Amino acid sequence: MLFTITSGTISSIFAVLFVLLTTSAICCLSAGIRSNIRCLETQKNALLQFKQGLVDNSNVLGSWESEKDCCQWRGIACSNQTGHVTMLDLYYNSSDIYNLETPLSGVIAPSLLELRYLNYLDLSFNNFEGKIPDFIGSLSQLKQLKLAGASLSGPVPPQLGNLSHLYTLDLAHNFVTFENLEWLSHLSSLKYLNMSSLNFSKVVNWPHSISKLPSLVELQLSSCSLPNVDLRSLSFVNSSTSLEVLELSDNFLNSSIFYWMANISTSLVHIGLMGDQLQGLIPDVFSNMVSLTSLDLSYNQLEGGIPKSFRNLCRLESLNLWENKLSDKLQDSIENLSCAQDTLESLRLSGNPFWGPFPDNLTRFSSLKELYIDGTNMSGPLPKSFQELYQLRSLSLVLNQFSGPLPDFTGLSSLRQLFLSKNQLTGSLPENIGQLSSLEFLDISVNSLNGVLTEVHFLNLSRLQFLDVSYNPLSFNLSPYWNPSFQLYSLDMSSCNVGPDFPKWIQTQRKLTALGMSNAEISGSVPNEFWDLSSNLLELNLSMNQIHGKFPNLSSKNCTFFTIDLTSNQFSGPLPPFPSNISNVFLSKNMFSGSLSSLCATQAPELYNLDLSENLLSGELPDCWMQYQALHSLNLAKNNFSGKVPSSLGPLTYVVLLRLHDNNLSGELPPSLKNCTELRVVDLGANKLSGNIPAWMGPSLTNLLVLRLRSNEFYGSIPLSLCSLPALHVLDLSRIIYLEPCHIAFLI
Ligand SMILES: *[C@@H]1O[C@H](CO)[C@@H](O)[C@H](O)[C@H]1NC(C)=O
Ligand SMILES: *[C@@H]1O[C@H](CO)[C@@H](O)[C@H](O)[C@H]1NC(C)=O
Ligand SMILES: *[C@@H]1O[C@H](CO)[C@@H](O)[C@H](O)[C@H]1NC(C)=O
Ligand SMILES: *[C@@H]1O[C@H](CO)[C@@H](O)[C@H](O)[C@H]1NC(C)=O
Ligand SMILES: *[C@@H]1O[C@H](CO)[C@@H](O)[C@H](O)[C@H]1NC(C)=O
Ligand SMILES: *[C@@H]1O[C@H](CO)[C@@H](O)[C@H](O)[C@H]1NC(C)=O
Ligand SMILES: *[C@@H]1O[C@H](CO)[C@@H](O)[C@H](O)[C@H]1NC(C)=O
Ligand SMILES: *[C@@H]1O[C@H](CO)[C@@H](O)[C@H](O)[C@H]1NC(C)=O
Ligand SMILES: *[C@@H]1O[C@H](CO)[C@@H](O)[C@H](O)[C@H]1NC(C)=O
Repeated sequence: MLFTITSGTISSIFAVLFVLLTTSAICCLSAGIRSNIRCLETQKNALLQFKQGLVDNSNVLGSWESEKDCCQWRGIACSNQTGHVTMLDLYYNSSDIYNLETPLSGVIAPSLLELRYLNYLDLSFNNFEGKIPDFIGSLSQLKQLKLAGASLSGPVPPQLGNLSHLYTLDLAHNFVTFENLEWLSHLSSLKYLNMSSLNFSKVVNWPHSISKLPSLVELQLSSCSLPNVDLRSLSFVNSSTSLEVLELSDNFLNSSIFYWMANISTSLVHIGLMGDQLQGLIPDVFSNMVSLTSLDLSYNQLEGGIPKSFRNLCRLESLNLWENKLSDKLQDSIENLSCAQDTLESLRLSGNPFWGPFPDNLTRFSSLKELYIDGTNMSGPLPKSFQELYQLRSLSLVLNQFSGPLPDFTGLSSLRQLFLSKNQLTGSLPENIGQLSSLEFLDISVNSLNGVLTEVHFLNLSRLQFLDVSYNPLSFNLSPYWNPSFQLYSLDMSSCNVGPDFPKWIQTQRKLTALGMSNAEISGSVPNEFWDLSSNLLELNLSMNQIHGKFPNLSSKNCTFFTIDLTSNQFSGPLPPFPSNISNVFLSKNMFSGSLSSLCATQAPELYNLDLSENLLSGELPDCWMQYQALHSLNLAKNNFSGKVPSSLGPLTYVVLLRLHDNNLSGELPPSLKNCTELRVVDLGANKLSGNIPAWMGPSLTNLLVLRLRSNEFYGSIPLSLCSLPALHVLDLSRIIYLEPCHIAFLI
């Protein structure tokens, strides 16, 4: 039978064809568009099961909804060809202070095994419980496995050794354990290995296992309790051509490690051995380390100098020898670095007994950005100029015996930090220091610099934040209306000749947190505007001047004071309430008068030191000391306080030092004092205290070193319990006329 094709059937065939053509076209087109590759149902279900095992308090996995394509979920990536999940990245960013999410916790469910094509798994810095799951060793396509800081514990499963494609393994900062590294040596593709802070103390011959990794590029094993290398067992090192970064800081390694390194040498770019137990001379094993750019040997006990083999290190950019016992003439050591004179950017030599003059060969290192030579035995003059080191950002020469005039710093347009304190520098501060327009920190304190500082010295220092010129015989010629271009955080002009007026320009410094002007020959008063602007001040030290006037009520202002020291001035008038949260108040040797009643108006639960001695304060002591629970030291001596010793001192369980001597206090000592068991020094001499010397002192105040009760009106006998004060060094009971003589054998 023949088909009779009607126009109707033709059009319907065409319609079908058309539909087929267009849908296939769409489907073929979409194959190239990543977003239209949908994830596989089995893998989506596996991920949803994984999610169920997690505790997700901040809904990190909010996008993991079953009706959505799992390739679009947070932390997931799929192959754009097959749709298989290839990446699971739920790394928790703990270093971002703006991260409001909490880390995931719970268990890592075995359903992940369904993600057979996973090549990237990162769960770092979450908060999992339990072991590293064995099944991870079966995710055979894994190339990168990152589980750092994920609170994992228990033994590392040896199955991880099956991950033959792995090139990144990061297990650092967990509580996991392992007996040996046999499993590790199977990871033949491994390039990046981080096991920092894991405990290697029981691992025998760790260098052997590491040596078997032929592709290793970076090895991070800081704080691993790495045991020492036994040189006899060291075998040929297969990673000798690949290893670039070797970080072994904060272990127990001795100098034998140098010989191991010598054999993996040509490729090494960074070596970190900070805080190990390296002793003796630095061995001369660096000849082959031609690629080395960064070497950190700080915080060891290395002796001698920089060895000759450093002459082959022509790419060195950073050398850190901080805190060793290197005692070479520095000039000679620097000579062995000469091949790096165009590359070296950071040189840290502080805390070694290097000696000799400032090495003149050092100024040839034209790339230097940081130079730290603090706390050595070096002396003599500094170079006339640092012009050749025009890239310097930090120069620190603190605590040496450098003498003579300051160098010429012109041309150091990048200099941010200049620390020259604690030397014997003399002469004046050159005016061109004011041209160092990048300067942020300037410390020339504790020298013998003299002369007059003017506005020119600060002309272009608009970035200055920290200025310390203290302990120099310097004077200032600064207009009170000076408006400096900088905003300082910290200013110290102690023991300089600042006065006689309080420098008004300081009021322009609205960010100031610390101001030191002790012993600065100031005899005026502190302008009220200064106190108004003091809202950022944490530390104020105006001691040892002749400043007069009243001390304002700062408690009503929004102050952040931590320490105020106005000792030895002529402040007068009544004591205002203290700012709340203040910790240290030193107001002794002034002329404050009136009563202490303002004390009860403040809540200062952090007050640690209170010294009001040698003022003209009078009246009864207030009975609100429980508001000052943190008090360690209370000195009210040499005033004219009268009445009883208040019983509210009893709750001050941390008080160590109590001085109330030279007042007019009377009556008996309150028994509550026996709670102040931390007391070491109690001086109540020269008052009118009466009653028996309390017997509870012996058994209660067992930490007492000094007890002075002299010149009072106590009566009765000396309690024998004072003999049970095991630490007592000074007991002064003189001039107590009513005291009965007694068996004072224990006083011997
Ligand atoms: C798949 O993705 C890779 C890497 O993103 C890309 O290089 C490749 O061209 C993509 N292939 C297709 C078919 O889109
Ligand atoms: C994986 O590792 C374990 C333990 O190391 C081993 O017994 C097992 O045979 C390995 N599996 C495969 C597939 O290689
Ligand atoms: C070093 O590698 C070679 C070839 O890749 C291999 O035969 C040898 O066993 C390896 N040595 C060690 C100690 O792993
Ligand atoms: C380092 O320690 C190992 C093992 O305790 C010891 O054999 C070696 O002599 C030590 N080397 C040095 C230089 O102290
Ligand atoms: C490097 O290894 C070889 C072979 O084990 C050894 O003979 C040599 O002494 C080592 N070199 C150094 C500097 O330790
Ligand atoms: C220094 O400051 C002065 C006055 O503010 C200005 O004219 C000059 O350009 C500045 N110089 C540099 C090097 O910044
Ligand atoms: C204030 O400065 C003087 C002299 O520099 C110093 O002795 C004292 O300890 C300083 N006060 C405080 C609280 O640091
Ligand atoms: C005092 O400290 C508390 C807690 O440290 C803080 O909340 C409060 O704001 C502080 N008060 C002042 C006035 O700084
Ligand atoms: C001390 O206070 C008493 C009253 O308690 C008073 O009579 C005496 O004058 C005051 N002494 C001084 C030196 O202020």
